[in-house]
Amino acid sequence: RVLRGRSLDLAGQKVVVSAGGTREALDPVRFIGNRSSGLQGYALARTAAARGAEVTLIAANVALPDPAGATVVRVESTAELREAVLAASGHADVVVMAAAVADFRPAARHDAKIKKTDGEPEPIHLTKNPDILAELGERRRAAVPGTSPKVIVGFAAETHDVLANGQAKLARKGCDLLVVNEVGEHLAFGTPDNAATVLVAGGEPIEVPRGPKEDVADAVWDAVAARLS
Ligand code: CTP
Ligand code: CA
Repeated sequence: RVLRGRSLDLAGQKVVVSAGGTREALDPVRFIGNRSSGLQGYALARTAAARGAEVTLIAANVALPDPAGATVVRVESTAELREAVLAASGHADVVVMAAAVADFRPAARHDAKIKKTDGEPEPIHLTKNPDILAELGERRRAAVPGTSPKVIVGFAAETHDVLANGQAKLARKGCDLLVVNEVGEHLAFGTPDNAATVLVAGGEPIEVPRGPKEDVADAVWDAVAARLS
């Protein structure tokens, strides 16, 4: 059977997609965040549903309507994203980490709004966030019960040495596929178009030419389907 020109090659597969970008609170009104729009993650969720998958979309601070046919879990911080991803990945076949995850968070969150004073502001001390993708890879390697997706997919936005950085990251994170974007002015963030290279553990890279984010999404699901079969 074919739906909107796509075959139902992901029928029966439980997939988890994270999208958007995490925010780390400084005080009740301010946060440290990033420019991820969530468009690529939403395209992944839409196309997976169109190909028959059962989709859980974990959305971090995305101003987009829920895609049809996906269960949407909304999160704000990296800690919330981690909880949601680990919970959903317990019974998933595929996990795709398309979210831009804050590497650091303020070491302390102020309970009250930070006020201006006459002097210079206090520096913001940062602490490292957990690496969710690396944790998924480690749990699978260690065969932790309840976390063994068959295919784990990461994303990487790189500004330079795109392929070399990507290959190193693929190995470091222990994932199966790494979708590498070159970022810079007018590339990737907030635009409807994207171009990418899908790095494959133990295989040849797949080039996806510039086009709608759906094209990158379909190329990712093609590579996922190949690894599932
Ligand atoms: N990621 C994650 N948890 C983090 C940071 C990143 O799960 N704390 C995931 C992202 O969702 C993405 C992949 O890891 O799928 C790569 O993210 P990226 O920021 O490119 O990699 P880092 O290891 O954080 O390296 P750096 O930012 O230094 O390039
Ligand atoms: Ca990072």
